[in-house]
Amino acid sequence: MKNFKELILKRESCRKFNGKPVSKSDVEAIIEAARLAPSACNGQPWHFIAITNQEVMKNVASHMQAFNAKAGGFIVVIEEKSNITSTIGSKIKHQDYTQMDVGIVTSYIALAATSLGISNCIIGWFDESKVKQVLDIPKKKRVRLIVSLGYTDEKEARQKLRKDIEKIVTYID
Ligand SMILES: Cc1cc2nc3c(=O)[nH]c(=O)nc-3n(C[C@H](O)[C@H](O)[C@H](O)COP(=O)(O)O)c2cc1C
Repeated sequence: MKNFKELILKRESCRKFNGKPVSKSDVEAIIEAARLAPSACNGQPWHFIAITNQEVMKNVASHMQAFNAKAGGFIVVIEEKSNITSTIGSKIKHQDYTQMDVGIVTSYIALAATSLGISNCIIGWFDESKVKQVLDIPKKKRVRLIVSLGYTDEKEARQKLRKDIEKIVTYID
């Protein structure tokens, strides 16, 4: 638990990358951790495009906020169709389990990266159609999130700004 607390305190959105590339082996380790994320009915409705190629990264970054130009790698999180049980479950329960799954797997990516000393930022603000064009992703697919990976020169973790505990929880003892 102590290590977990340290990890979640260390993870923060990095918007000041220093341009150092992330190694393919580290990206592979991050994907391996993400693969183990839970998902509704174990549907695993995701596909990742893991980019360390400089040219492709430059192209993708041009459709994202400017700070991403100095990232050292990207993991593009594409939503895939889930399995039949999860799809039926979503319909019956009026829930979108697939998007929940994508959010969960993305947080695994962020935490796995942090555990390897790789700064990161989950990005939802990008030009989806341009990113799909660059990466040859079919128009009908959804790119939900991109995780920027890299290194920062900043030493100290920022203070976490969060709602007060009493505002977010009701305990029933
Ligand atoms: C689904 C999602 C989308 C986000 N999109 C962006 C984004 O497009 N650009 C950005 O700079 N940060 C983005 N963030 C990061 C949040 O702004 C950040 O997590 C939040 O402010 C808390 O700060 P922290 O991550 O440093 O603890 C996103 C985070 C999530 C979970």
